[in-house]
Order: sequence, then C-alpha cells, then structure tokens
Amino acid sequence: MTTDAVKLAPSILAADFARLGEQVAEAERAGAERIHIDVMDGHFVPNLSMGAPVISSLRRITRLPLEAHLMILNPDFFVEEFVEAGTDSFLVHWEGNNDLSRTVQCIKAAGKRVGVAINPATPPTVLEEILQDLDQVLVMTVNPGFGHQHFLPATLPKIRRAREMIDRISPGCSLEVDGGIDSTTAPLAVAAGADVLVAGSAIFNESESVTAAVQRLRSALQS
Ligand code: DX5
Ligand code: ZN
Repeated sequence: MTTDAVKLAPSILAADFARLGEQVAEAERAGAERIHIDVMDGHFVPNLSMGAPVISSLRRITRLPLEAHLMILNPDFFVEEFVEAGTDSFLVHWEGNNDLSRTVQCIKAAGKRVGVAINPATPPTVLEEILQDLDQVLVMTVNPGFGHQHFLPATLPKIRRAREMIDRISPGCSLEVDGGIDSTTAPLAVAAGADVLVAGSAIFNESESVTAAVQRLRSALQS
C-alpha cells in the first residue's frame, strides 16, 4: 500500500469545542478523510465526552464521513439515535460486549459501516470469527478514555498480526489505529500495516494550525 492511500481521521476530542465547526471545516479543507468522534459514558471508560447532538451539528457543516467510536456500555441502545444524527460508521469495542455479533448486525441492518476496536491487552485473534462481517478493525494504541496519551510501542507487533489476519481472511477490511499518533508514530503504525490513522492532539493543538498539523502528519508518512 502506498502512503498516499493512508486516511487521516482527526479526533475532535482534542478540538477547541468553542470553535468546533471551524476546526472540523479546516480539517476537511486540509484533506482529512473522515472525522472521528469519541463517545464516552464514564462507565466503559473513566471519562465523559459527547453524544449524538454533536454528530447532528457536525453533519450540517461537513461532507466528511462521521465515525463514532463508542466507548460505552450497551452500544446497541444508542445505534438508532446515532444513525439519525448522521453517523456514517461505528466503532464498537470487543471488550465488555457479550453479544458482539448482535451489535455488528444491528449496525449493518441500519446500513452503516462497522468496525470493532480492541484494547491494548486484547489479541487480534478474538476477531477471527467475525472479521468477514466487518468494514474495519481498530487497534487501540493507548488505553481508551483520554486524549494526549503516549503511543504504546508494544502494540506495533499486534498491528502487524492484525494486518496478517485481515489479509488472510478479509482483505477489503481496513485497519485503523487510535491513540498517541503523531509524526513520529504514524510512519511506524503504517509500516506495521495500518491504513487509517486517528489523531487528536497531533491535529488539534495550540502550537500550529489544523492545516499545518495535517500537512506535517502527511509529510511524515512520505519521508
Ligand atoms: C482515546 C480516543 C482517541 C483519542 C486520541 O480513548 O479513542 O480517539 O482522541 O487522542 P490522541 O491522538 O491525542 O492520542
Ligand atoms: Zn477514538
């Protein structure tokens, strides 16, 4: 895969919420391919973030696909509300879901794309039986719940194993990584097989514009 095919998914968790629309529009103009929205309930992860109303508002100001990363208990209860708000794709966790196939089918029945996320301590093999039903796999490269964390290098061999499994079973499935992705770690994750990069603090930060940050990540992939 060429590095040009790698997609960037800015995570708005790190955005300035007072200027959210502006920042997302800038990310779109700068060439980001989708917007990643982290949904946290204070139970599945020890943090609270945002819900479907944020998706509805963003739906009005961007054409980019909106991807909801659900870090919540009982994701099935919220699929309909998120679909109505304008979500294009869902990422649900393997952890804590004792009927993952039901969740995946519920999202597919709504006509939306679906991916399953695995935490750093979870091996990719848990997804073998469900991989054919998925549009993507998300390997968490930090423990979920917070932005601005350091990339866990131990996840690199796991990204490689996930890539091998995908190529063997379902080559059309994409492989996304999330957490601590910046211009140093992005090339490592891509070399290991990732083709979608979530980036929060590397794209929305005080030290540079969103446009400059997107360009910096892209050029790190080219060097
Ligand atoms: C963490 C979230 C991430 C987070 C990434 O639980 O899933 O999407 O926003 O933020 P950075 O890129 O700052 O690590
Ligand atoms: Zn996320």
